[in-house]
Amino acid sequence: MSAAVADASLSFETALRDVAAEIDRQFDHLLAIPTDPRSRLYEAMRYAAIGGGKRLRPLLAFATAGLFGVDRACTARAATAIECIHVYSLIHDDLPAMDDDDLRRGKPTVHRAFDEATAILAGDCLHALAFEILADPATHADPFVRAELVADLARAAGPGGMAGGQMMDLAAEQSSFDLATVTRLQALKTGALIACSVEAGAILGRVPPEGRTGLRGYARDIGLAFQIADDILDVEGDEAAVGKQLRKDEAAGKETFLTLLGLDRAREQARLLVDQSIDHLRHFGPEADLLRDIARYTLERDR
Ligand code: IPE
Ligand code: IPE
Ligand code: MG
Ligand code: MG
Ligand code: MG
Repeated sequence: MSAAVADASLSFETALRDVAAEIDRQFDHLLAIPTDPRSRLYEAMRYAAIGGGKRLRPLLAFATAGLFGVDRACTARAATAIECIHVYSLIHDDLPAMDDDDLRRGKPTVHRAFDEATAILAGDCLHALAFEILADPATHADPFVRAELVADLARAAGPGGMAGGQMMDLAAEQSSFDLATVTRLQALKTGALIACSVEAGAILGRVPPEGRTGLRGYARDIGLAFQIADDILDVEGDEAAVGKQLRKDEAAGKETFLTLLGLDRAREQARLLVDQSIDHLRHFGPEADLLRDIARYTLERDR
């Protein structure tokens, strides 16, 4: 490996670690446990939100905002809001009514460690907290910027985004979807929040919508590559490294890129998407290298 490549991967690892530590700090501060009967709720939120996960969405927000010199404290808040939605989506995704999983981020799922009602409420609260964070003037002085952040995250989380994709995902256990439908499912379920993470960086950077085309293309492609990698990990990942139960999709009879394309073609498709995503950044110089590293990481990751 050349020195330049080694350096690049070093800075990527450092960025990932720094962002993870920052998000932990934010949650620790936001989720102080009250001395009243809500303490169990806060404990469940902390249990889910602190000290786990790759923090890929926050890293995307930081990497994009970094292109435009955004204040890091503002980015940290927006990134935490997006991670709130992600963590809530994981808590609910693991519930018995959905994927019925016992392991998440290397430890028992929230409904296992606490109980189902607490898990539902912890998810609800993280969902609400996301918008409370974004609406706070500490996230950005300009109310128009805050409103745009709120609107974009709401879109990414709702029926036209993550939750809608989750509904399609449940239907994918009963129906035989074609490639176009599975692509749409993945774009909503996983892609929308990933796209929102990049968009948030551009919104904070006051990039006008017409200046976001390349970034949007980048985000769309890594979102799909990321979910193909998740599906590949489900088949051939190491449970200890991934920190969640694997071999679930096939058991559930779920239509994914893998069932439609087979392992080799799915991997090839993901590689093409990563290359294409990097190509969307051609108008940026070395300042976008972190985004390029993230694109490669979406597929090379082992967790
Ligand atoms: C898992 O997301 C769920 C999907 C959308 C595929 P991540 O793989 O980003 O999970 P964490 O945050 O690292 O735990
Ligand atoms: C869940 O997808 C995506 C979410 C929106 C939470 P999966 O069900 O494939 O995620 P994992 O494999 O449990 O992390
Ligand atoms: Mg699921
Ligand atoms: Mg799941
Ligand atoms: Mg999965």
